[in-house]
Parts: sequence; structure tokens; C-alpha cells
Amino acid sequence: MLSASQVTALLQNSSVTILDGELGDTATMSLSEETLQLLKSTVHIVIHAASAVNLGSSLREMSYTDMAPSLCLIRYALKFPNLERFVFVSTAYANAHLRKSSTSSDVPVEEKIYPLDGEKEDYYASAVQAWKQVQRTGSSEEYEAHDFPWPYGYGKHLSERLLLHQASERDALDKLLIIRPSLIGPAEEFPVPGFASPHSMSSTRLAAAYMLHPGRRITLATRCKDPHTESTIDEVPVDVVVDRLLVHTALGTAGCVHAVSGEKGRQSVEDWWRALNKERRLPWSLKLVWDSEDWHSPGLHRSERISKIVGASYAFSEEKTVQAVRKLGGGVDEKEKMRLGSFFRALFFGVETGHIYPVALQMARKKNWPACSVRLLCRKGKTAAT
Ligand SMILES: NC(=O)c1ccc[n+]([C@@H]2O[C@H](COP(=O)([O-])OP(=O)(O)OC[C@H]3O[C@@H](n4cnc5c(N)ncnc54)[C@H](OP(=O)(O)O)[C@@H]3O)[C@@H](O)[C@H]2O)c1
Repeated sequence: MLSASQVTALLQNSSVTILDGELGDTATMSLSEETLQLLKSTVHIVIHAASAVNLGSSLREMSYTDMAPSLCLIRYALKFPNLERFVFVSTAYANAHLRKSSTSSDVPVEEKIYPLDGEKEDYYASAVQAWKQVQRTGSSEEYEAHDFPWPYGYGKHLSERLLLHQASERDALDKLLIIRPSLIGPAEEFPVPGFASPHSMSSTRLAAAYMLHPGRRITLATRCKDPHTESTIDEVPVDVVVDRLLVHTALGTAGCVHAVSGEKGRQSVEDWWRALNKERRLPWSLKLVWDSEDWHSPGLHRSERISKIVGASYAFSEEKTVQAVRKLGGGVDEKEKMRLGSFFRALFFGVETGHIYPVALQMARKKNWPACSVRLLCRKGKTAAT
């Protein structure tokens, strides 16, 4: 997290104005009329990253916490006379359902919308239809017909299409940028190496859940022939996500853009697991057992029944960032170029193991386990963050 002095510096910075609002199913965001008017007349760029990120939420819950607020916000923002860009933070796993139909165990995912009823589908019309069904029944035919790992993934898939539909109705498709991060991890450089908000780091939460498992084996689902080496974890430093978001916003990129570590930066589960086992204190190592193809199977380990994707592998395309790097040309420092490209190595298990322990402590508290149990199971690790 940031230090107290860094937070104070930010709060005292006259170019930052903080408005404490609440997105909901109306465009007012619990803000005063005066503030709303100020927003309307001054805002050029809206970056919408608010989300109740919870893989366990039902689709109905997501419709209240994520979809309706996102729709309200874009409808409102598209009326701003000076609006240049609306950026929606989605997830690369909005297309995780492709695993089922893919012929490859390393599922290719392009930076585009995958219509759920075949390539010829009018996905604006189907989104409006599905949204009506979700509001009425808490589900939709297209959701039932596809194997999404969680309602969250489908909720983002539907939100992307609903937002695109809104933008197209207002002839503003060129203003909408959809950023799709994979698992967001600790910062590579900015504001300091290792900076993280551990509770929103999905792979840290996963690592902490495995750390608290006192047994000898964990059962995971996979379709890979050799899951240890073929299944991968795509974790991207949070500052790389922000860099990509800002560069594509500035360059005027429209549509979907992945912010991922990609084929060159992702880790095999084997490497991830080896590093994780080093952080365990118990004298026996924890063995991965690969089982069913079905990621909803009740036989899987508790945390895998939530995360689901550890035994899978996704090859997220980064073509739009490759194009952006080309567009930026020679004027950009080589190192900066690399941060935009997929050439960095995710840091997590190099220096960031220190984030696991506090998350494990919080998880143990929820289970009513004493803090000393975490000390018995998990090392304190280390982090580069100051
Ligand atoms: N973390 C990941 O690995 C990951 C991966 C891919 C994509 N993403 C996406 O990245 C975005 C940010 O995720 P994150 O992990 O940074 O989440 P986070 O740490 O939970 O932050 C989400 C923020 O959104 C705010 N928020 C939620 N609902 C709101 C509402 N109705 N009105 C106003 N504010 C609201 C929350 O405020 P309160 O704290 O006050 O509730 C919180 O500050 C999300 O869109 C998420 O889907 C995250």
C-alpha cells in the first residue's frame, strides 16, 4: 500500500479532486447537482474501474453491482459535450468460456467480442435481449448455454456488449475503449516496485488459500495433457495495466485491448507451484492432483471451485499493443516500449511473496482460526515495496 506521506501528497495535490460517489442504477452517483453539472462541463475522459469484484456473486447480484451502474455511467457520460474517451475496465476472462469449444488446450483469445450465438449474431441486439432476461429472471438463455467459470466473467462479457451498444446508438464507438486485464499483480515499478493492494490481487488470494491447506494434495480441473507445464497463470503488474490503459487512451484506440503478461510473460503452473511450495512451512510438500475436465466439479479443492482457471491456459492476443508500440516509433525509450509490449516477466514469485501472509491471516480470521495457525503454515515472504 502507499505510505502515509504518499497519500498526503496525493490528497494535497491541487490537480486531484476526489469525489466520493456511489454508482448505482441512476446517473446521480449520490453526488450533488452542482457537482454533476461541474462534471458535465469539465470532463473529457472517464475511466470506469469500479466493480464489486467477487467471483462468488450471482448474476443477479452482478446486475445490481456492476452491469446497471456501468450502463448508467456510460449513458450519462455520453451526454458530456467534451467527452473524448470512455474507458471501461473489463477482464481478459470475459472470454474464459472459450475453453470449452477450443480445439487447443492453450485457448487463443483475440481482442474482439466473441458473439455467444455464432459469428453472424447481432451482438448488440442479443445483449439488450439478454440484459432484459437477467433483470427479469437473474439469468439469460445465452448464459445457460455457455460454460462460463463464474457469473462475473459473463457479467463482464455482457457489460462490454451493452456499453458498445450504447456507444453505437450515440455514434460514439470511436470513444469507447475496453481494457481487459488478466490477473492483476504487484507493480513492477510505479509508484514503487511491489506496490499492491493485496486483497484485490487474485493470484495472491489463491496462493493464500493454498497456503492454508494443511493436507498433502489439492485437486484441480484441467484439459491439458501435461497440466504442470501446459497450464499457465497470466498475471500482469498493476502499473503495466495502467500504462497500457493510458497509452491506448492517448492514442485513441477503440474497442477491446488486452492488458496481460501474454504468451511471453505468463508462468507455467509448475513454476508457480514450485515457488508457492517454498513459502509453506509444513515439512511435506503439497501435491497437485489433476482430475476432471469440469471446473464446476464438487470434487475440486475449495479455492479451485472459486478460481477455476488454474488448470487452464489462455493465449491472450496483444496485437493492439504491438501496433501501439509501432505507432509510438523511435521517440519512446526502449524500456518504456518493453513495458507496453509483453516482454516483461511477471514479478510475483520473484520478490512479492510477502503479500501472501497478510491475506492468509485475513482468511484465517474469517474461518475463526487463530493467527498462530497461519504462522505454522506460511512463511512471511518478502516484498520489494517500501
Ligand atoms: N483484481 C484483478 O485481478 C482484476 C483482474 C481483471 C480485471 N479486474 C477489473 O479491474 C477493475 C478494478 O478491480 P480491482 O481488483 O482494483 O478491484 P477493487 O480493489 O475491489 O476496487 C474496486 C473499487 O471499485 C469501487 N466500487 C465498487 N462498486 C462501486 C460502486 N457501486 N460505486 C462506487 N465505487 C464502487 C470499490 O469501492 P469500495 O471499496 O468503497 O467498495 C473499490 O474501490 C474492476 O473492473 C475489475 O473487474 C481486476
